[in-house]
Amino acid sequence: SGSGGTTSASSGGGDSTVTMGFSQVGAESGWRTANTKSVQESAKTAGITLKFSDAQQKQENQIKAIRSFIQQRVDVIAFSPVVESGWDPVLKEAQNAKIPVILTDRAVDSKDTTLYKTFLGSDFIEEGKKAGQWLVEEYKDSTDKVNIVELQGTTGSAPANDRKAGFQEVIGADTKFQIVATQTGDFTRAKGKEVMEAFLKSTPDIDVLYAHNDDMGLGAIEAIEGAGKVPGKDIKIITVDAVKDGMQALADGKINFIVECSPLLGPQLMDLAKKVVKGEEVPARVVTEETTFTQDQAKQALPSRQY
Ligand code: AHR
Repeated sequence: SGSGGTTSASSGGGDSTVTMGFSQVGAESGWRTANTKSVQESAKTAGITLKFSDAQQKQENQIKAIRSFIQQRVDVIAFSPVVESGWDPVLKEAQNAKIPVILTDRAVDSKDTTLYKTFLGSDFIEEGKKAGQWLVEEYKDSTDKVNIVELQGTTGSAPANDRKAGFQEVIGADTKFQIVATQTGDFTRAKGKEVMEAFLKSTPDIDVLYAHNDDMGLGAIEAIEGAGKVPGKDIKIITVDAVKDGMQALADGKINFIVECSPLLGPQLMDLAKKVVKGEEVPARVVTEETTFTQDQAKQALPSRQY
């Protein structure tokens, strides 16, 4: 698909009067691919006509897509903001055009919360805390320094900001935990590998890798193996998402712990969209339910994992 291209998919049957413009972040990770599929399939099932646009991880493309949805006079706009800041002008344009907006997956930092109707997605701070809690428990009997390297998600994105903050809050209570290197891997496998290779060269004695998503963790595993070390043993690995490839690496012992982040937001998004279009009240915040996985739990869950 071309840069920022928009495709339309008409659905059959049902209450098909609602048209949704959806601006997706991109296709940077397995999580994102599963999320796109969930949105597209749920629109069909719900009888909502979906105009889908892929921003290829660029805010300017998302702004263009939202403006184009306003021009086309869609009934509702939903989007997953690539970064948190800089949305007020375009959201104001949607508000002036009386087109309701739903935030999905990621938040914006706008002070004016009337610019959107609701925010559906995970609690990323909580995810970061769960990652930190596992680490604290894992090293509870040791007083030695624990050297952590961190692969951050897309700079300025809500999941990168919040997963860092939640994790830091929990490990910060004990000075033996030190983040000795931290850098963005942009939520991609390729970048995760590249940055981990650099960490391995620049940073001696890495005990733990905390990657803000599975894909970066999987890329880092290649770098670790390439350096002759054993992922999951020489370097313990914590990631977020729990997509199939991540769960497989967890079951294989290469990852130690995964905090789940569910991409299956489509059905709830379509329900909220229908309500918002009808002018019904919706909760200001809808938080996704999520769990965590150890290696044993991954082995059990893998056969029935949907994505
Ligand atoms: O916003 C959710 C995050 O975006 C996922 O954890 C990551 O894999 C994706 O790219």
